[in-house]
Amino acid sequence: MLDCIAKHPAKIELSETVPSPMQALRMAQWNFLELLPKDCLSKPVVSGQAGARFHMIMDPPLIRDMLNARVEDFPKGDMIVDLFRSVALKNIVSAHGATWEKLRPPMAKAIHVSALKEFSTVFSAAAEATVERIERASGPVDIESQMTQSTFEVISTLALSEANPRFMQTVQRALTCFTSEIARFSPLDFLNAPAWLPRPGRTGLSPTIAFGQKLVDSVISARKASGPKSPPDILDKLLEAQRADPYITDDHIRDNLNVMLIAGHDTTARTLSWSFYLSAFAPEVQEAASLEAREVLKGRAAGVEDLEHLPLSMQIIKETMRLYPSFPLLVRNQPLKTALTPDSPF
Ligand code: HEM
Repeated sequence: MLDCIAKHPAKIELSETVPSPMQALRMAQWNFLELLPKDCLSKPVVSGQAGARFHMIMDPPLIRDMLNARVEDFPKGDMIVDLFRSVALKNIVSAHGATWEKLRPPMAKAIHVSALKEFSTVFSAAAEATVERIERASGPVDIESQMTQSTFEVISTLALSEANPRFMQTVQRALTCFTSEIARFSPLDFLNAPAWLPRPGRTGLSPTIAFGQKLVDSVISARKASGPKSPPDILDKLLEAQRADPYITDDHIRDNLNVMLIAGHDTTARTLSWSFYLSAFAPEVQEAASLEAREVLKGRAAGVEDLEHLPLSMQIIKETMRLYPSFPLLVRNQPLKTALTPDSPF
């Protein structure tokens, strides 16, 4: 429980108007979410100008149209491509068109929801190890680092079956370096400055990241020589896709493994950490969730099949993702042929 450190969960004040380019530059240095105007909470589309004209789309049918029916018309945003340029250019998150179509089926197969049951033992082992670490701790526990360690253990086991903790710590350090120092939006991105203009702090391939990349490369080569694990992990599934389609290169495999290692633990660690944070403001919700878990699980670790019997825990996670989304903005480019107007957004 938070001991009266704060009375209410952290909240940013959204601005009354769409900020001017200069205001945007100033605000983005502190927290780019402050760039969102209040209108985002009530209007389907909010447009503005920050270097280039931009549109924020909040309307679910329009979003579905952009991400599904008309996905071809809205390529991944330059901002996203630039973030990955020096580190993992050939990855699915920044890919579009033919590359995305080639990468999507093997990636989707590797982490399809139908595989959740088979992943269950890995989830439970990481959760139990986390509980033990927390029980052993004397004094306050940094829940964010606990959740990061736990979710990274899950994704590194599922992606690479890698059991050597020192090896994985080095890879994790490289990925953390990528997300904290390089994969950061710069105010210059919001102002649509050209890609050749250096973004302060986004320096490219640091030695830590380069070393992490080499380690992942070495796992790929070793696996090619040794053949698949039993059961096959995500790397095996990507190598299988490569054997079926020579379009998929070793660079694709390395870059997508890296992206999977990042996307597969950072988002979940943030969601779990915020859910503990929010629960700390509501002791009665904590108590009810604990009671629900004790009644359903009777002391054993939870499996995927238990989720439907744990409605309160599910609500806590969903409400956390609504209030503190770990992935708050999807960025897409808007080609000229899809010009938006206030009356007819597309
Ligand atoms: C709370 C957890 C998560 C959240 C909030 C989240 C959110 C998102 C969002 C919003 C996108 C779309 C990005 C875009 O199109 O611009 C995305 C894509 C992706 N995520 Fe997650 N994610 C989560 C967990 C995971 C996990 C656990 C994995 C892997 C094990 C994963 C792997 C991916 C991949 C591979 C993509 C690219 C999909 C594509 O472009 O076709 N994510 N995620």
